[in-house]
Amino acid sequence: MTQPHPASSTFRPDLLAGKHALITGGGSGINLGIAQSFAAHGCAVTILGRNLEKAQNAAAGISADGGRALGVSADVRDFAAMQAAVAQAVEVHGDFDIVLAGAAGNFPAPVDGISPNGFKTVVEIDLIGTYHTIKAAAPHLKTPGGNVLSISAYGVPVPMQAHVVAAKAGVDALTQTLAIEWGLRGVRVNAIIPGPIDGTEGMARLAPDEKTRGQFTRTVPLGRFGVPQDIANAALFLVSDAASYVTGVILPVDGGQNMLGGAPQYQMYLGMQAAEQAKQKS
Ligand code: COA
Repeated sequence: MTQPHPASSTFRPDLLAGKHALITGGGSGINLGIAQSFAAHGCAVTILGRNLEKAQNAAAGISADGGRALGVSADVRDFAAMQAAVAQAVEVHGDFDIVLAGAAGNFPAPVDGISPNGFKTVVEIDLIGTYHTIKAAAPHLKTPGGNVLSISAYGVPVPMQAHVVAAKAGVDALTQTLAIEWGLRGVRVNAIIPGPIDGTEGMARLAPDEKTRGQFTRTVPLGRFGVPQDIANAALFLVSDAASYVTGVILPVDGGQNMLGGAPQYQMYLGMQAAEQAKQKS
């Protein structure tokens, strides 16, 4: 998944020249798309993932396209490992202009179909992992001028996703509280809520077949899945000077899905339950 050449980008090619971004979960999907886009606009990127090989491969792809990239390994649940990875990143590319907390874990499960450890695992990756990322990077985040951007989700109740909705509500609260606390030091803190995005591990898990893809498509007023570049474009805007007066924003980039609340996903859930009941009867 190579990103468009900056010449064809809406943004000027040197938008992020001389900057350094830490991107967790940057080995694939939405976060890789963001890393590629940032690099294509002049930003050095440190891609952090649990799997070192995956992070390094992603970084090598960016380097092959002419970008500056480093792959490092840490589990966002492990604060000491995050501090060590941050130290590696800073040694190579210097302090951070941008910290992007994108690492996430997800699977569809109802509240009574998930163990306490399953729930805790997702909260630890999504919420505590976001906190660990920001906390570990904070001593190296440039002030003024630094940007924190988190990848949230939904912003509304969604059945089969209580663990994620609960964790991401925490991410949103952390985002807005930090935006207040760090405003006077000139650091902006925002988040993006992506809609269904093609080519991501999350969507492969949540919409594994054409029928479910069709159902997801009908939850989106624009009537289609997004692509990683849609999220990367929003991220480029939010971390650029064009958004210098924007902080504490949880921005849906989702074809209008969030505007409808949780109703479309509830309809999907009712349909799944009806299908399950029909299967049991036959
Ligand atoms: N339904 C219910 N519970 C599930 C589950 C599912 N589909 N998948 C995992 N779990 C539970 C496990 O059963 C386990 O609980 P238990 O010990 O009580 O049995 C718990 O979650 C932890 O699973 P484990 O596989 O040991 O955790 P992990 O740290 O290796 O993986 C996950 C974390 C579960 C979030 C895994 O899905 C993952 O690594 N995801 C990363 C990629 C991803 O999700 N990307 C999408 C981003 S949107």
